[in-house]
Amino acid sequence: MTIDELRRVAVVTGTSRGLGYAIAKLLAARANMHVVATSTELESGRRAIARLAGEGLPITHHLLDVTDPASVAALGHHVRERFGRIDVLVNNAAVFPTFLEPEEGSVLTARPETVLSTFNVNAVGALRLAQTFVPLMREQGHGRVVNVSSEVASLAVLPEDEYPLSPSYRISKVGMNALTRLLARELRGTDVLVNTYSPGWMRTDMGGPDAPFSAEEGAETAFYLATLPRGGPQGGFFAEMRKFGGPIALPW
Ligand SMILES: NC(=O)c1ccc[n+]([C@@H]2O[C@H](COP(=O)([O-])OP(=O)(O)OC[C@H]3O[C@@H](n4cnc5c(N)ncnc54)[C@H](OP(=O)(O)O)[C@@H]3O)[C@@H](O)[C@H]2O)c1
Repeated sequence: MTIDELRRVAVVTGTSRGLGYAIAKLLAARANMHVVATSTELESGRRAIARLAGEGLPITHHLLDVTDPASVAALGHHVRERFGRIDVLVNNAAVFPTFLEPEEGSVLTARPETVLSTFNVNAVGALRLAQTFVPLMREQGHGRVVNVSSEVASLAVLPEDEYPLSPSYRISKVGMNALTRLLARELRGTDVLVNTYSPGWMRTDMGGPDAPFSAEEGAETAFYLATLPRGGPQGGFFAEMRKFGGPIALPW
């Protein structure tokens, strides 16, 4: 067997920038996984990944639009054909329409079209990827699914937290959390573990320049959940580790 055949394989969505790029780099550099990094646009996505491959990291690029079933199927086919395995899936890709649409300041003005399109990327996108890769994880008997959510999706604190109202974004991330719980229920008793986490407010295109933390810091909890040992948590919702110095459960 070659090193490439032995190497674990991770798929990370939305790696052209921000948190997805940091997670892809961390999984390849620290866990020596072969990372299949994805972007919606070929040139910028490839450029970002070429930098990491240039450093000698085991990472390749594939196009992916999580809203396009044909694009998701093509990625699934590529992974099965080229590697025949998948050890980690990180559902990171997301959109945040809040500052682009003033209507997002109130539930009463949020545009239903925006609620639907945001849900399609942030929640249904993760569902499409899970439907594509979890069956292969089950065949193998192991796998880790990491859903990147947000603490603004915590129904317990949602009525009074200090974050922007952002109805479309919050509804979509609540949907992603529900997906996590339901999938965990179906996977109970197996070594395919699915968890969700909040990376905190980070300096990315989405988070803006004033955020207190870097994408690299936000990637640490994804790394923790992607490399959980057998018997690790199933169906959990975690806070970013740096804030609490360890994996702390968030209230749903
Ligand atoms: N930044 C924060 O403060 C913060 C806080 C809490 C949670 N989060 C979560 O952390 C994750 C990463 O956020 P970020 O700050 O890195 O965001 P970002 O800089 O805006 O990057 C978003 C990523 O999602 C990808 N994406 C968007 N639509 C897609 C689609 N239809 N198909 C495939 N990929 C798509 C983009 O890919 P392309 O460039 O190829 O379009 C991009 O790589 C998200 O799940 C976000 O909700 C972020």
